[in-house]
Amino acid sequence: MLAAGKGKRMRSELPKVLQPLARRPLLGHVLAAARALGPERIHLVVGHGADEVRAAVGDAADLDWVTQEQQLGTGHAVQMALPGIPAGAQVLVLMGDAPLVSPETLSAVIRDAGDGFGILSAVVPEPHGYGRIVRGADGAVERIVEEADADAPTRAIREVNSGMATAPAAALTGWLAEVGRDNAQGEIYLTDCAAAARAGGATVSATVARAPEEILGANDRWQLAVLEREHQRRVARGLCAAGATLMDPARIDVRGTLTVAAGVVIDVNAVFEGDNALAEGVSVGAHCVLTDCRLGPGTRVHPHSVLEGVVTEGECDIGPFARLRPGTVLGRETRVGNFVETKKAVLGRGSKASHLSYLGDTEIGAEVNIGAGTITCNYDGVNKHRTVIGDRAFIGSDTQLVAPVEVGAGATIGAGSTITKTAPPDALTLSRARQVTVENWKRPKKK
Ligand code: UD1
Ligand code: CA
Repeated sequence: MLAAGKGKRMRSELPKVLQPLARRPLLGHVLAAARALGPERIHLVVGHGADEVRAAVGDAADLDWVTQEQQLGTGHAVQMALPGIPAGAQVLVLMGDAPLVSPETLSAVIRDAGDGFGILSAVVPEPHGYGRIVRGADGAVERIVEEADADAPTRAIREVNSGMATAPAAALTGWLAEVGRDNAQGEIYLTDCAAAARAGGATVSATVARAPEEILGANDRWQLAVLEREHQRRVARGLCAAGATLMDPARIDVRGTLTVAAGVVIDVNAVFEGDNALAEGVSVGAHCVLTDCRLGPGTRVHPHSVLEGVVTEGECDIGPFARLRPGTVLGRETRVGNFVETKKAVLGRGSKASHLSYLGDTEIGAEVNIGAGTITCNYDGVNKHRTVIGDRAFIGSDTQLVAPVEVGAGATIGAGSTITKTAPPDALTLSRARQVTVENWKRPKKK
């Protein structure tokens, strides 16, 4: 896996292969494709930002790190790795910046190559920047010509090289030994193995990618953005195949994993980060952001809601405009409405907080009604404290529950109360000042 280049055109401090696609480094996508093939080892050729790349990817039992001090070309990069590869192995060269290639396509490349030199190519409308595949009258690949070295007729060829290639290790070592640096860039080109292989009587195959996007690499931010869209389009397709309805497949972003059951409906501009799972019949309204959530069957998330680390147990309503933070667990038939923020809050079956509340470090039983404006005062400036509310309690509007505090089952709290002590079950508790009317009071008048 070649990942030594700088990626100057990204105009970024971050090494190119660490640029994110769907929040994961480009290299991570390529690694996943490689691992799907069950390789014996993966040799990563790093140079620019080597330490950073290694730190980001992390060491793993199947990874071998190879340093290429000077970037003398793709052939040179492969030469750096070859001494660590058994002579009898089949080598597959991947590009650390081409994240959309699929394991199926790579398998086809290896199959087509036999014991010769095989590459992955694609026919593209705009071949600019790529090496061109020159085929003979019989259709066989004769050589690959880099753009910098190509004459006008060669530049007109629209079949281009992906950079990905395969060959037996021993043969590859031999061919590369014959490849010079006599070209426009003064580099050792991996692509020159095509001509070297032919000269030595070996076969050269070019497997044409069925989806040309698979060969795309990200050299600059625009290409990275194009790749991101293509990746998202593929994810959207997968979601539809799994039974989800996307109101607009072009307006969903999945940065991580999203598993969906049949009957899931996702409206426009939903963003999913981390690992999310939506059970049967879950609906997600427009403009929602979900991070690491597990939503049970029939959960309805209404527009403009932001959910992180939320678990729901079944049919319930969230939002519009709700903010649910980690540790929120909603039982069935619950409702968390507009401008309600929850954190480490468990709502039992049928409980409702319909408007304008903060519920933090709270355990709420079943069939509880939380009035508008209710706040759990869970933080004393140093520590967080818990609020426990029993089944069927009714919390009047604009109540402050100063934690640690407990409200008994069936208790009613009068609106506007500040509750600092246990409210007993089945009783009315209120801390509101009595209402008075001052009879002879006059409004001040302007002098
Ligand atoms: C290469 C191919 C070209 C192909 C194109 C597809 C060669 C000679 N050319 O060209 O035919 O169309 O990819 O994108 O192979 N790298 C190293 N060490 C080096 C040089 C490159 O690790 O010394 C790595 C880069 O980090 C990158 C990959 O190899 O991940 C491709 O390098 P790049 O410079 O982009 O190759 P191109 O000139 O675009
Ligand atoms: Ca490139």
